[in-house]
Amino acid sequence: DYIHGLKGLNNLEKKIQDMLNINRVYIVPGDSSEDIITFKDMGKTASLLIKQLIKDGDIIGITGGTTMAQVAEEMTADKNKKDVLVIPARGGLGKDLETQSNNIAASLAKKIGGSYRLLQVPDNVGGEALKALMTVHEIKEVLDMIKNMNVLIFGIGRADVMAQRRELEPDKIEKIKKEGAVAEAFGHYFNTDGNIVLETSTIGLSLDDFKGIDTVIGVASGKEKAEAIIAISKLHSNMTLVIDEGAARKILTMS
Ligand code: G3H
Repeated sequence: DYIHGLKGLNNLEKKIQDMLNINRVYIVPGDSSEDIITFKDMGKTASLLIKQLIKDGDIIGITGGTTMAQVAEEMTADKNKKDVLVIPARGGLGKDLETQSNNIAASLAKKIGGSYRLLQVPDNVGGEALKALMTVHEIKEVLDMIKNMNVLIFGIGRADVMAQRRELEPDKIEKIKKEGAVAEAFGHYFNTDGNIVLETSTIGLSLDDFKGIDTVIGVASGKEKAEAIIAISKLHSNMTLVIDEGAARKILTMS
C-alpha cells in the first residue's frame, strides 16, 4: 500500500502485530527519542492512514498530546470527505493550548474539510459542579457525540511522564505507583495487563466507550514508550498502531 513500500520494516510490523495481537501495525523507521524527523514522519504516516480510513459521515474523536498535535500538523488538505465531524475525546486535559484535544480537533477538522465541536470543561472540576456542567446543552450534545464516535485517534503516554506533566496530586501519584500504572491514554492510567488504575477527573470517552469503537488508531513513538504501548494494545483487539522503529525493537525484546 502507498503508506509503505520500500522501507523494509514489513517483517517487523508482522511480528509486532502478532505479538500484540492487534489488527495492524505500521512502523516508521528511526527512533523519535533520538531524531525529531522520525517524530514528524510518524505524524505524516498517521495522517495518511487517517485519510485512507475515514469515510463520509464519520464522527472522529482525537485526544491531546504532542503526538496528536503532530498528526494534525502533518495532515494535508482533503476536501473529498462529506459530513465528517471531529471532536475531542475528553475535556480539556492540560494547560498548554497547542497540545489540547480541543485545539487539535479543530485544526484537524479544518484540514479535512469537516466540522468540529469543542468540549470546554476545565480539569479538576468535580462533584456537584461537574454534574451541573453536564446538564448544559452544548456540553451534553458533545458528550452524546462522544458516545457515537466511530473513529478514535489517540496518543499513548507513559504513566509517570503523564502524571508529572498533568501535575497529578501526590495521593494520586502514590496510587498509580503502588498499583503499577505504566501507561496513559484518553485520561486513563493502566497497568501492564491493561486494567484501569486511575481515571482522571475530566469527562468524555470512557474505557467502555473505547471498547465499542470500530476504528481505533493509536500513535506513539520512542523506545521509552514500549511498555506503555504493550499495555494499551490489550484494550482493543481491532486496534491499529502507528509506532516508530525504536519502540518496535524495544517491544520485541520484551516478549
Ligand atoms: O495524552 C497524551 C498522550 O497519552 C501522550 O502524549 O504524545 O505528548 O507523548 P504525547
